[in-house]
Amino acid sequence: MDSQLHDMLFERHSIRKYTSQPIDPDAVKQILEAGLLAPSSKSARPWQFIVVEDRTKLEALAKSKKVGSRPLAGCAMAIVVVADPEKSDVFIEDASVAATMMHLQACALGVGSCWIQIRNRFDATDEPSANIVRSLLDIPYTLEPVCILACGMPDEQRRPVDPEKLEWQKVHIGSWKAAQQES
Ligand SMILES: Cc1cc2nc3c(=O)[nH]c(=O)nc-3n(C[C@H](O)[C@H](O)[C@H](O)COP(=O)(O)O)c2cc1C
Repeated sequence: MDSQLHDMLFERHSIRKYTSQPIDPDAVKQILEAGLLAPSSKSARPWQFIVVEDRTKLEALAKSKKVGSRPLAGCAMAIVVVADPEKSDVFIEDASVAATMMHLQACALGVGSCWIQIRNRFDATDEPSANIVRSLLDIPYTLEPVCILACGMPDEQRRPVDPEKLEWQKVHIGSWKAAQQES
């Protein structure tokens, strides 16, 4: 059975290096639409997305974590995914699904993107990354920054995943079974 989505899932990767080319505005719109179309528990849609293109702000966001946030310095656009814990007890899951939908939509459009974790992370001075992101972007303290999607036109090529490398031992049919020891 052919499926374009399935083929794309094997080709999808986190992309952390970007050209200086801007992202087509139609593609930006489609990426945001993918987030707004995300499923959420009880359809609460507890998320909000903040689009950041300002270079000074992107540089500052890139320093919001000790490690792992540098792709933000070179990206064309960042989408900060925040969610409201008052609107849903599963706001983290809901925000994560929305971020994943945008990551996949970006990939489908040839736009590279990478999830940058913010929740439960800290900068070089042990300041919570969430506080830094909130104060940089005037986000109210009632909202929880979950992650940032760094987006840009890819400046790196990554190989598709080899189907042989999939960890099928993590799939259990009928009931949980310990992985068989390799002889
Ligand atoms: C919850 C989550 C947090 C992540 N945090 C970061 C991050 O802070 N910085 C980063 O460069 N990549 C981050 N990533 C991307 C992962 O490193 C990446 O998905 C993983 O290495 C597998 O590579 P692939 O996406 O190319 O398959 C994160 C991914 C997820 C799902």
